[in-house]
Amino acid sequence: MLRTQVVIIGAGPSGLLLSQLLHLQGIDSVVLEQRSRDYVAARIRAGLLEQHSVDLLVEAGAGERLQRECLVHDGFLMAWEGEVHRIDLHALAGKRVTVYGQTEIQQDLAEVRARSGGDIRYEATDVRLHDITTARPRVSCTHRDQAVEIECDFIAGCDGYHGVSRRSIPAEVLRTYERVYPFGWLGVLAEVPPLNDELVYANHSRGFALCSMRSRTRSRYYLQCPLEDTVEQWSDQRFWDELRQRLPAAHAARMTTGPSIEKSIAPLRSFVAEPMRYGQLFLAGDAAHIVPPTGAKGLNLATADVRVLHRGLTEFYRNRGRTLLDEYSQRALSRVWKATRFSWWFTTLMHKFGEDPFALQMQRAELTYIASSRAGAQTVAENYAGLDFDPDVVAAIR
Ligand code: FAD
Ligand code: PHB
Repeated sequence: MLRTQVVIIGAGPSGLLLSQLLHLQGIDSVVLEQRSRDYVAARIRAGLLEQHSVDLLVEAGAGERLQRECLVHDGFLMAWEGEVHRIDLHALAGKRVTVYGQTEIQQDLAEVRARSGGDIRYEATDVRLHDITTARPRVSCTHRDQAVEIECDFIAGCDGYHGVSRRSIPAEVLRTYERVYPFGWLGVLAEVPPLNDELVYANHSRGFALCSMRSRTRSRYYLQCPLEDTVEQWSDQRFWDELRQRLPAAHAARMTTGPSIEKSIAPLRSFVAEPMRYGQLFLAGDAAHIVPPTGAKGLNLATADVRVLHRGLTEFYRNRGRTLLDEYSQRALSRVWKATRFSWWFTTLMHKFGEDPFALQMQRAELTYIASSRAGAQTVAENYAGLDFDPDVVAAIR
């Protein structure tokens, strides 16, 4: 039987970042990932980072290329019914956001982890958790046709929404909250310059649209679409035609189109599982919570969890202190619920839910309120750019 201090399940951003931060504190871990390294590296997902996520990646030694290649944005645009309003994040919240693809983060983390001799086992199947509530938990799996069993002090469940970790917590212990939205996002990546310097979020009677980017030459665009749609139904031509219709005329007129590099449809969901700890198992990132992508909070919540969890584990190995670990779930969830609220609210504001005239008037009233009130716009800016950590969390993890 192998032995390590922390077994980390999942080599997404949460798992790799945690293992690297622990390594910097002299704490050993083994990462078990069910997919291949190439598969994990190729997934196109998040694009927008809050400052605390950038800071943590830099602290982990994975920020060098990020700082060289990222785009820093001071604001973003909200558009509806011919109106365009800019949310000035810097003026309203004193913050900026960073555009840098999750694909790049994944690559940077994998490289620093490889350089520092990280033990990451890709294509580990049938991962199972044992004796979670004892001081000697174990994780078993099959790796390269061999049965592997690892004894450890702690298990970090960083295996995303569909992972095995959360499902290893007994149903009577776990409370879950969920909202499934009646539409999806069709995303397209294309090697074309972004139509605007900053992101554009558009509420339109045909449905929501988002213009994002990965660099000055690569764009990431999204359209609200029916959940039943398949990518085969969306030719590039149909996608561009639909996007053009949903954007303000001036933006649509300057849009450059081109062949798509990637096209996918993602369902939208809000989900929170409480508590985020059971015995020696700690959940982090999408394993514990999912938000709809409208607020760009998913990856940022994952890094926030990892920030608290790695400090808790460090405290334990330094002086056997358990305070931070005992408070992990409560501290992480306080931020999770606020981001869940913002993501739900922003989704509700910007998407088409049906033809209900009252709901449409509520959206219109809210949008014009935000455009005319500094207080209204400031609330959006503060949440979008990322809330400060609660003062007691800051004090605890210093
Ligand atoms: P994941 O990235 O899901 O990683 C979990 C890993 O665990 C995976 O590699 C998986 O293969 C592995 N795994 C699963 N089950 C097992 C098992 N049984 N055994 C071993 N390994 C397992 N967030 C933002 O902050 N900003 C954005 O702009 C943004 N945009 C998004 C756009 C889209 C279209 C989508 C879909 C998501 C977006 N997100 C965004 C959310 C963000 O991508 C996720 O929150 C983030 O990937 C969470 O990281 P994670 O490491 O917790 O989970
Ligand atoms: C992205 O670039 O993929 C992205 C940006 C902002 C969002 C969602 C996705 O709100």
